Amino acid sequence: MLHPYRITDLGGEKNPLYKDPKAPIEERVNDLVARMTLEEKVLQLNQYTLGRNNNVNNMGEEVKKLPAEIGSVIYFDTDAELRNGLQRKAMEESRLGIPVLFGYDVIHGFRTVYPISLGQACSWNPGLVEQACAVAAQEARMSGVDWTFSPMIDVAHDGRWGRVAEGYGEDPYTNGVFCVASVKGYQGDTLADERRVAACLKHYVGYGASEAGRDYVYTEISKQTLWDTYMLPYEMGVKAGAVTLMSAFNDISGVPASANRYTMTEILKDRWKHDGFVVSDWGAVEQLVNQGVASSKKEASLKAFQAGMEMDMMSHGYDKYLADLLKEGKIPEERLNDAVRRVLRVKFRLGLFDNPYTKKSTEEERFLLPSSLEIAGKLAEESVVLLKNEDNVLPLSASAKIAVIGPIGKNKWNLLGSWSGHGRDGDVVSVYEGLEAEFKDKSRLLYAKGCDFEGEDESGFAEAVAVAKQSDVILLCLGEKKTWSGENASRSTLALPQIQEKLAMELQKTGKPIILLLSNGRPLELNRLEPVSKAIVEIWQPGVAGGKPIAGILSGRINPSGKLAITFPYSTGQIPIYYNQRKSGRSHQGFYQDITSKPLYPFGHGLSYTEFEYGAITPSATVVKRGEKLTVEVPVTNVGERDGAETVLWFISDPYSSITRPVKELKFFDKQLIKAGDTKVFRFDVDLERDFGFVDENGKRFLEAGEYYIMVKDRKVKIELVD
Ligand code: NOJ
Repeated sequence: MLHPYRITDLGGEKNPLYKDPKAPIEERVNDLVARMTLEEKVLQLNQYTLGRNNNVNNMGEEVKKLPAEIGSVIYFDTDAELRNGLQRKAMEESRLGIPVLFGYDVIHGFRTVYPISLGQACSWNPGLVEQACAVAAQEARMSGVDWTFSPMIDVAHDGRWGRVAEGYGEDPYTNGVFCVASVKGYQGDTLADERRVAACLKHYVGYGASEAGRDYVYTEISKQTLWDTYMLPYEMGVKAGAVTLMSAFNDISGVPASANRYTMTEILKDRWKHDGFVVSDWGAVEQLVNQGVASSKKEASLKAFQAGMEMDMMSHGYDKYLADLLKEGKIPEERLNDAVRRVLRVKFRLGLFDNPYTKKSTEEERFLLPSSLEIAGKLAEESVVLLKNEDNVLPLSASAKIAVIGPIGKNKWNLLGSWSGHGRDGDVVSVYEGLEAEFKDKSRLLYAKGCDFEGEDESGFAEAVAVAKQSDVILLCLGEKKTWSGENASRSTLALPQIQEKLAMELQKTGKPIILLLSNGRPLELNRLEPVSKAIVEIWQPGVAGGKPIAGILSGRINPSGKLAITFPYSTGQIPIYYNQRKSGRSHQGFYQDITSKPLYPFGHGLSYTEFEYGAITPSATVVKRGEKLTVEVPVTNVGERDGAETVLWFISDPYSSITRPVKELKFFDKQLIKAGDTKVFRFDVDLERDFGFVDENGKRFLEAGEYYIMVKDRKVKIELVD
């Protein structure tokens, strides 16, 4: 371990350039690096932890052991006192007074927890997600956190992988758009704003391809698929200004992401010109030994550092070995200086040198503000997906007697979802409480838990059946515990545990209509529950708003507008199943013999209480040349009785090209409120290069002459691109 410095003498110089807030950041960075010793530089490239640690996958570190020169810590506390203590040590006791960077997993809210990312994507409302991330940033920064390890933009096709909850679904473009929205929300216009935080795009790259949904394992990704499926959201996030990225745990076809020079240096730094830094995931440096590309932690540190990873999160590899590796001539000094510059640049941008301490504030001043709760509520509302509504059983009539049954009914904790920051169950409105407030004196509510989330105890069935018999309708609240998704939370099946399905079967025998409410962090296998349910409402893990939006949807006060950002397979055996699969040579054959080959609910599926009628797609031209502009429009009429929001998803299909392409690809989406009886025209400004073009296995973009189709719903229009 390196010795902490206790020298404050800068060689007699009172006002070094790097301390001048008016000097340009690059000059400050260079001035500072020129003054640093090897040991000081190395410590900037390490991240330890500080404070309470409630993540079972990570382990805490004692406060007092931290050196004053440490580059960064993961900060687990909910107010700034502890932070300011360590920061004072860094500013006053280290020789150069370099502030510490405090990071934390602010994934879907800090204290005002909003829906999991998978739910957010189903809102198709990036503007709202930007606002929610701004709330998270404000709460976090005012609590002493400068940097969030978010957004996670790992495209995922396998719901068994617990982390599917943390991303924006199966589509690269959707992940990219929500990535940009969250980067904007976190970072704002300037990172020096004391209500914004630095973003971190993770996990770079391909982690979502984990085999069979098992976490941390191998990923088989061809170079073409790397570019087609996984890189786009990162490219969009880097262009949006995300200052950091986290390297992933997975092995990309033989080269672990955390030792991957191609992705971290050639693409990120050389091609995309990213000037911030890459942090490892927790322990990912030393895990290169387990992955078998390094024989020791020292070699692992060398490989990761040379590949382009600047900061070591909790492997204690860089702090131990980088100085020796440099002295041995294995690491060029320029690489070390570049890495340090990258870390310092982010600290300067955050204004940490000029304002290192977090202002004192009360919890009331920073948490759960009415405007924050409103945003979280609106996002939860727009994330809800109405999957089924047979005979328009929903909304319920005001006087209906409702039996609320199931383990989710009165539960609060699980509605927070995985990685719920500093969220508390006391902040959450349960489904039952939401219904109580919504239906007040209008209708009677009855309740029975029926069964737990899992296990074999059927002793609650009889009470549930009795309660159901006294009611007009059953609201069956099933789903997952929050710990069933997130990191290290894989499941072998997308089906809910048998006990929950059994409860549904018992209730069905009462003949009362079942409205199935689902709260979960992954797509579910619903082929047994679907036939016994008149309606199915997916609320995901909605965060603090909990049961409020669903109550509004049941009463009809809210018209649901969410659509799936991920396919719900008919059964787990269909995985991987996703809308943008590549074309087959025999699309009329190749089906399963035992079950349907179609998913139960496809990508983009979601019902409303009103109906939308799409007109014809009108293009500005049907023949276009490279570089020309093309716009397409489609009128959408609300032909129902209620106002409602509709999202138009614009797809492109390229029937013939030099390499095979997916059957269709989402290129744009737009959501608008349409009043009953009104028509709104949706418009897509096509960028030929971006939308008709495709990338090759090196990420080089091509645009080929030929036919293309632009599609919305079941309509399409042919466009010809000529040279
Ligand atoms: C491991 C997780 O993979 C990553 O997403 C998270 O940001 C870090 N731990 C820090 O908690």
